[in-house]
Amino acid sequence: MTRVFSGVKPTGHLTLGNYLGAMRRWASVDQYEADALFCVVDLHALTVDHDPARVRRLSRQAATLLLASGLDPELCTLFVQSHVDEHARLSYVLECVATDGEMRRMIQYKEKAAREQRRGGSVRLSLLTYPVLMAADILAYGADEVPVGDDQVQHVELTRDLAVRFNQRYGHTFVVPRATRPGVASRVMNLQDPTSKMGKSDDVGPGIVYLLDEPDVVRKKVMRAVTDSGREVVYDREARPGLANLLEILAACAGGSPEELSGAYASYGALKKDTAEAVVEVLRPVQERHKELCADPGFVEGVLRDGAERARGMARPTVDAAYRAIGLLPAVPAADAGGAVLRV
Ligand code: AMP
Ligand code: TRP
Repeated sequence: MTRVFSGVKPTGHLTLGNYLGAMRRWASVDQYEADALFCVVDLHALTVDHDPARVRRLSRQAATLLLASGLDPELCTLFVQSHVDEHARLSYVLECVATDGEMRRMIQYKEKAAREQRRGGSVRLSLLTYPVLMAADILAYGADEVPVGDDQVQHVELTRDLAVRFNQRYGHTFVVPRATRPGVASRVMNLQDPTSKMGKSDDVGPGIVYLLDEPDVVRKKVMRAVTDSGREVVYDREARPGLANLLEILAACAGGSPEELSGAYASYGALKKDTAEAVVEVLRPVQERHKELCADPGFVEGVLRDGAERARGMARPTVDAAYRAIGLLPAVPAADAGGAVLRV
């Protein structure tokens, strides 16, 4: 059975981009068709300036929203990254396979580091090495597929390179994974700036629809979306990015293709109205389930405890094998210690 691994960073409230670009497919397809693991990657949230209490809160919220979006702990493994030591253990070994140049070429690193420097802040070393930790997340589980939005494809390519390099140098240890992307809405754009991604970590703002936004807030944000000059509704990502984004969101929420849908609208206003309602309808069941789950925090904790235990059992043998392959001396279990001393 295909193994799937994916993750979400608790750096902000989850957005419509996260949902349409990733989470929805995890819940509707991946958990049924694959042996799937989904992870709240909290170690990754420490790569930029952070508030410890907020990261903790957002981690719990992300796990709750993943369950609310339909992940079923009977069908998949849901856990928090820092609960499983193997991620950090493997990450170090992979840092010994990756190169400095390779890390500095990562688009997300360049963008985030530049932003941090513009603000006058310093860039954490972990921001540079972050893609290696992501590779460790994936390779520790022998994942075949990694369903992600467009922005993460480069990191999955890097993961492939590291796996191939490790296997060639030290013997076959890792499965070489591939990225999979949703057909539509693989890159939901900011409603106020349709040339940049709707990202949860960037800032708050009227251009970002959060999964927990009230229906009226969603309507307001969609109705105020920046559209392009012109009157006709046409689908053209290059020339009309604002309109294209709305058409893609509508297609992702209500079905159909953006091209087809563009022909069905005579005005921007009508398109916005239908898009707003389609988004509200998609979010409604997620919000209802979220509310129920918040009333039962013990359930979410139990899911995460069981998930971490299962994940540990899966990752341990692969990470141990990588340690042996790269030349680290295996630790002798306590029961055998006497014998080991004699053998020396
Ligand atoms: P992140 O929010 O960076 O932790 O991303 C979690 C998942 O959501 C990743 O698979 C991303 O590629 C996906 N994702 C995040 N933002 C968007 C967006 N605006 N459009 C599509 N997918 C997204
Ligand atoms: N880097 C991903 C993001 O920013 C999150 C992530 C971390 C991830 N580890 C992963 C995604 C492993 C897929 C697989 O969205």
